[in-house]
Amino acid sequence: MAANFGELFLTILLIVCLTVSSQGREMMEKKYPYLRLASSFSSAKARGYDYIIVGGGTAGCPLAATLSEKYRVLVLERGGSPHGNLNVSYLQNFHISLADTSPKSPSQAFISTDGVINARARVLGGGTCINAGFYSRASPSFVMAKGWNLELVNESYPWVEKQIVQFPELAPWQVALKNGLLEAGVSPFNGYTFDHIYGTKIGGTIFDKNGFRHTAADLLAAGNPKNLRVLLHATVQKIIFNTRSPRPYAVGVLFKDENGRRHKAFLHAGRHSEIILSSGAIGSPQLLLLSGIGPKQDLQRLRVPLVVNNEFVGKGMSDNPMNTIFIPTKGHVEQSLIQSVGITKMGSFIEASNGFGQSSDSIHWHHGISSAEIGQLSTIPPKLRTLEAAQRYAKTKHEIPREAFQGGFILEKIDGPLSRGHLQLINTDIDTNPNITFNYFKHPRDLRRCVYGIRTIEKIINTNQFSNLAEDDSYTINMLLNMSVKANVNFIPKHTNDTVSLEQFCRDTVITIWHYHGGCHVGKVVDRDYRVLGASRLRVVDGSTFATSPGTNPQATVMMMGRYMGLKMLRERLGRRAGV
Ligand SMILES: Cc1cc2nc3c(=O)[nH]c(=O)nc-3n(C[C@H](O)[C@H](O)[C@H](O)COP(=O)(O)OP(=O)(O)OC[C@H]3O[C@@H](n4cnc5c(N)ncnc54)[C@H](O)[C@@H]3O)c2cc1C
Ligand SMILES: *[C@@H]1O[C@H](CO)[C@@H](O)[C@H](O)[C@H]1NC(C)=O
Ligand SMILES: *[C@@H]1O[C@H](CO)[C@@H](O)[C@H](O)[C@H]1NC(C)=O
Ligand SMILES: *[C@@H]1O[C@H](CO)[C@@H](O)[C@H](O)[C@H]1NC(C)=O
Ligand SMILES: *[C@@H]1O[C@H](CO)[C@@H](O)[C@H](O)[C@H]1NC(C)=O
Ligand SMILES: *[C@@H]1O[C@H](CO)[C@@H](O)[C@H](O)[C@H]1NC(C)=O
Repeated sequence: MAANFGELFLTILLIVCLTVSSQGREMMEKKYPYLRLASSFSSAKARGYDYIIVGGGTAGCPLAATLSEKYRVLVLERGGSPHGNLNVSYLQNFHISLADTSPKSPSQAFISTDGVINARARVLGGGTCINAGFYSRASPSFVMAKGWNLELVNESYPWVEKQIVQFPELAPWQVALKNGLLEAGVSPFNGYTFDHIYGTKIGGTIFDKNGFRHTAADLLAAGNPKNLRVLLHATVQKIIFNTRSPRPYAVGVLFKDENGRRHKAFLHAGRHSEIILSSGAIGSPQLLLLSGIGPKQDLQRLRVPLVVNNEFVGKGMSDNPMNTIFIPTKGHVEQSLIQSVGITKMGSFIEASNGFGQSSDSIHWHHGISSAEIGQLSTIPPKLRTLEAAQRYAKTKHEIPREAFQGGFILEKIDGPLSRGHLQLINTDIDTNPNITFNYFKHPRDLRRCVYGIRTIEKIINTNQFSNLAEDDSYTINMLLNMSVKANVNFIPKHTNDTVSLEQFCRDTVITIWHYHGGCHVGKVVDRDYRVLGASRLRVVDGSTFATSPGTNPQATVMMMGRYMGLKMLRERLGRRAGV
């Protein structure tokens, strides 16, 4: 009897779930007519695409929307939909996606050989669905160095901004940083602006006034739904080439759906059709390597048939080191990610973030973008950090005094950086992260800029603005330092006038701001139009083509680049007829 009831219950549950999910699907198809699950792909739809874009991320979405205005576009995205996922959509949940290491998470963790825990997006909208939302354009010198057409750049940024970017209502911790920066001499104050100008400013954000996140996936709505098809949970495993012609050219891709079934999608036979990789700074070089474009010896070792021998694929990877200092405060401060920034002339950017400690339940306490549970283990030297340590922290968080969550961080990121690393395949499985090395602070100038940044933070902490905020009498500095290790926060380093110990502080506490880039450098892997060298009908358009990270934070320029390249390709193909 009991068993029968159990079965009946399960059957009813199943029916309810199926109904809900089919209703969900119908609603999704109405609101987002271009979205489908990869498993719905059939061989009848396999041919004739003008463009196949691999990766519906920060660059891929604006690029797809733009090209679909005139041509048939297929986007293959390995992750799921951000729409209706509360972990993605709300500012308060920033740390939730990043702490989730399950295969369904919109974030895929990796640890570089440097020992720094890091994250890759795995969701439609890419990095814009898991990032801190700060929006700031590249410097004019970055744009000039790229050889980009300035008018087209000037058209492309506002296209993104009108749809998903706003200026924030300044949170108290961000007001404190802004005032502290100005008092410490990082001036002038440039007000609310997207532009990259020396001094202190308030940038844009993709979070609206209610803390709701807008993402690159929203930009797809600007495309032509008749020409646009976006497959979710479609993981591309390799690019298919025609290697019989003297110069190999891309003809299609092999991908697997959410059930592990394999499919192929092919380009239209015309010579203008193209595959465009927008799989991000790790995904794009990884996919080129898996498809036979890369260093001959590495590919032979893994028995990947060689298509183009190019030793530079996966080389020149960089990640901007971030170091933070925690400042305890007298009272609780409302949570904030990033809104204010100090742009110094010495190549360090100063930003701020603070977490949450206002709830009576310790489960909800966190340190925002410096949270240990997302891998920002800055009190453990990099080589000793593990994902298990991050998870252990989450489990024992309730033992930490609440005061350790009362306060905020000032963070420092260096521009560039000049230190370079590389990426290599570990195996031929697309789901396995490649072996990645960034070599943080290998270049002495990077270390000098970190020291300069920390000294600037010290100046800010010593301003009247911060001495009024900061905790002073109720805790002795020793108690705070003791608490800091358990809570995984660092206070002011002991000797800020001692360069050697500050250099050590930079190395020991280095974490990431997730601005890694490179792997498909211009002139080495792609040409100035982002066409892959040695092959035809194949481009890379994303952060893997950058030699340095644009602006104070890159997402503005990555999205702009998607729009820019889309417009450029349409205009080159159609001339005046493009009408866009
Ligand atoms: C936690 C975090 C916080 C950040 N904070 C900020 C910030 O506040 N401001 C800012 O400007 N920048 C921020 N960034 C950086 C910024 O978001 C990234 O630099 C940017 O999103 C990278 O864009 P992309 O197009 O190169 O790659 P992505 O946006 O990562 O896009 C790549 C896409 O390709 C997909 N993909 C990869 N491989 C495959 C495959 N084989 N098949 C199918 N699909 C595939 C991925 O799932 C992903 O959707 C942050 C990043 C992170 C992770
Ligand atoms: C949100 O995150 C929580 C905690 O990791 C997880 O249990 C839940 O399934 C996630 N929700 C979605 C929609 O992915
Ligand atoms: C582009 O915009 C910037 C800033 O808004 C402006 O200074 C510049 O003159 C513009 N350039 C062109 C070529 O339109
Ligand atoms: C990853 O790279 C590092 C340094 O380049 C090397 O020592 C290590 O053996 C590599 N690991 C794997 C699994 O290939
Ligand atoms: C800090 O920790 C050390 C070692 O655990 C201990 O000896 C010391 O008394 C602690 N100091 C304070 C102020 O709690
Ligand atoms: C830092 O500077 C102060 C004052 O100039 C000096 O007394 C102190 O010895 C210095 N500390 C170190 C570690 O150099």
